[in-house]
Amino acid sequence: MEGGQGMQAEQSRQQLVEMVRKYHREVQQDSAFVPGVTEIWPSGAVLDEDDRVALVEAALDMRIAAGPSSRRFESRFAHKLKRRKAHLTNSGSSANLLALSALTSPVLEDQRLRPGDEVITVAAGFPTTVNPILQNGLVPVFVDVELGTYNTTAERVAAAIGPRTRAIMLAHTLGNPYPAGEIARLADDHELFFVEDNCDAVGSLCDGRLTGTFGDLSTVSFYPAHHLTMGEGGCVLTSNLALARIVESMRDWGRDCWCEPGENNKCLKRFSYQMGTLPEGYDHKYIFSHVGYNLKATDLQAALGLTQLARLDEFCDVRRRNWRRLRAGLDGTPGLILPEATPNTDPSWFGFVITVDPQARFTRGELVAHLEERRIGTRLLFAGNLTRHPAYHDQPHRVAGDLANSDIITDHSFWVGVYPALTEEMLDYVIASVQEFVAGRG
Ligand SMILES: Cc1ncc(COP(=O)(O)O)c(C=O)c1O
Repeated sequence: MEGGQGMQAEQSRQQLVEMVRKYHREVQQDSAFVPGVTEIWPSGAVLDEDDRVALVEAALDMRIAAGPSSRRFESRFAHKLKRRKAHLTNSGSSANLLALSALTSPVLEDQRLRPGDEVITVAAGFPTTVNPILQNGLVPVFVDVELGTYNTTAERVAAAIGPRTRAIMLAHTLGNPYPAGEIARLADDHELFFVEDNCDAVGSLCDGRLTGTFGDLSTVSFYPAHHLTMGEGGCVLTSNLALARIVESMRDWGRDCWCEPGENNKCLKRFSYQMGTLPEGYDHKYIFSHVGYNLKATDLQAALGLTQLARLDEFCDVRRRNWRRLRAGLDGTPGLILPEATPNTDPSWFGFVITVDPQARFTRGELVAHLEERRIGTRLLFAGNLTRHPAYHDQPHRVAGDLANSDIITDHSFWVGVYPALTEEMLDYVIASVQEFVAGRG
């Protein structure tokens, strides 16, 4: 662009950005909370003026594929979560698929997971923590969780290890960390890979250390319900550079080359490779060392991720504060099993789980109906016992011990929100609504 034209364009851009800020303030509704009328969502995106501007600026640049914002996000996010590498994906489910698929790479030689190998996981969780195990021809071994923390224990995992067990893949339930240090040691002792699904727990601490830093790989989701959002999106993190290379290859069609799609010959060896039975000098851009996918995200998503990332600490603080308010307000309510942080952890909570005591004079269905009537949104603890869903009936799996608590969760548990848009007034209304219902059943 000519100098004059460039200045003109820059001016137009600044004007547009100002107008976007003005527009944001105009459409921003700070309407008063009306109990029983205003919807209290269990989760949702918390978006501000900077987020709107970031999206518009990305659109102005027409960066429609992955590019500089994606790379910037990956580097800042890896730094924030204390891992050497982060790879952006189009969802948390894709991040889980990539993390587990990476462990099947031929690059890992004898260590690679092979069809029929077992991966220990929990039955009470989100389906796409488990699906990559099946999608790779591996066998999930389901263990039970504890009521209250909704996590499994190192003892349960240890008891599940069999001769074909090669990996452990577990999600930190609704932000509450499982004993990740103990499980990492167990994995080390038995030469198992360890993948942390950290989709619901960004910012959580276990023994003073961030979740997602204990495993060989960890994953994050940026769906609107999560701590940060890009609309859709996810990330695989690792400090193991060999695994990072595999993740990148599998994310990007399985290619061997690590140039960005728009880059040419950054390594100066583009036409100097001989791999497989390909001719000498075959363009490295088109040499495939993995049976890969395309699971990349776009710069529009990453631009939003960058502004969201600037607020991560604030979001985590509010989630913690909201959870504490609900916990204190509901303490001692008869007929309810309230959530507990796993010992030695400081969770960055995703939600507030309530289990209706199976002996209570009321059911989960009745309590949930009462809350929903009052426009208090509720969600189940995802799948409950996953093995009871039609999709899994014919799938190979092993159950270690029993799944008694997973069954109780299926029948009696639900959660309400703690996400940062909820105000003290809303949380107090949730507390009062639960207490009123329980008192009425006394
Ligand atoms: C623990 C866990 N893992 C994975 C996912 C999948 O993330 P996404 O919706 O971004 O695919 C979720 C989604 O909520 C989740 O809660």
